[in-house]
Amino acid sequence: MTGAPFLAVSGLTKVFAPRRTLPMRLAGQRPPALTAVDAVSFTIRRGTTYALVGESGSGKSTIARMVAGLLAPTKGQISLGGAPVTGAGAQENGARRRMQMVFQDPYSSLNPRWKVDDIIGEPLRGPGQRKGRAETLETVGQLLERVGLHPADGTRFPHEFSGGQRQRIAIARAIATRADFIICDEPTSALDVSVQAQILNLMRDLQDELGLTYFFISHNLAVVRYMADDIGVLSRGRLVEDGPAAQILDAPTHAYTQSLIAAVPTVEAVEEADTHRAVEEAGR
Ligand SMILES: Nc1ncnc2c1ncn2[C@@H]1O[C@H](COP(=O)(O)OP(=O)(O)OP(=O)(O)O)[C@@H](O)[C@H]1O
Ligand SMILES: [Mg+2]
Repeated sequence: MTGAPFLAVSGLTKVFAPRRTLPMRLAGQRPPALTAVDAVSFTIRRGTTYALVGESGSGKSTIARMVAGLLAPTKGQISLGGAPVTGAGAQENGARRRMQMVFQDPYSSLNPRWKVDDIIGEPLRGPGQRKGRAETLETVGQLLERVGLHPADGTRFPHEFSGGQRQRIAIARAIATRADFIICDEPTSALDVSVQAQILNLMRDLQDELGLTYFFISHNLAVVRYMADDIGVLSRGRLVEDGPAAQILDAPTHAYTQSLIAAVPTVEAVEEADTHRAVEEAGR
């Protein structure tokens, strides 16, 4: 692991211009533009996890979509491994090819009409890949096993899996592309706590094995504490604080970060609630 930045984001800004309604147009009025992301700069070191936290609507997904190249920034630069992700030349330099996105709802990102073998195998059969059908299937089987599924699961369709299993399929597809930068927007928020822990563990194991770099978005500070090396705190489109995870979580300097942390139920409170539940269940 080196200290050089792998992802570099500088002055990133997104202004959404809302549509003018007919009455507004007739009155010659313009609705105010919304600055969803305001001059955000940060870097991510190779092989580490950078978590972005902040309240709903603070601009986390907008940043993720710009970093992924799915949304054009109004201003600012993004580069991965020194190559620009945005602007002219971004399509050819390969920066986009080494990134993949994992979403909260994997069902929306998995083609429902494709069998899992084809979903995971597709990036293996892209241009420049010379794998035959049998060889592709073998690799897909290995990937399925790697994410805790069975090679025979490849013959099934996405709707035949649970949410946690679908997230495993999305992860297998991401690593099949040989991407080494993975953008995760609330990847486990829709899962129950035990499945969430399994997926997070899988992601950490894959990070160690494959040297992956994660840009990890979550509103769950317990998840962030488990996953992140560094944390950025976003409030109303601005990065208010940014630094090593322990420093941000245990000694936040910004009032907004302090209020975010104060809003999280403490471990003691959660344990107490669990004890109550266990006692209740034992009494049944
Ligand atoms: N395509 C769009 N057009 C107009 N406004 C948008 C668009 N996408 C996002 N916004 C606005 O930008 C702001 C930031 O939205 P964003 O989805 O990035 O928030 P978020 O931090 O991901 O929130 P959440 O935690 O709820 O997912 C919001 O006010 C949202 O309404
Ligand atoms: Mg979001």
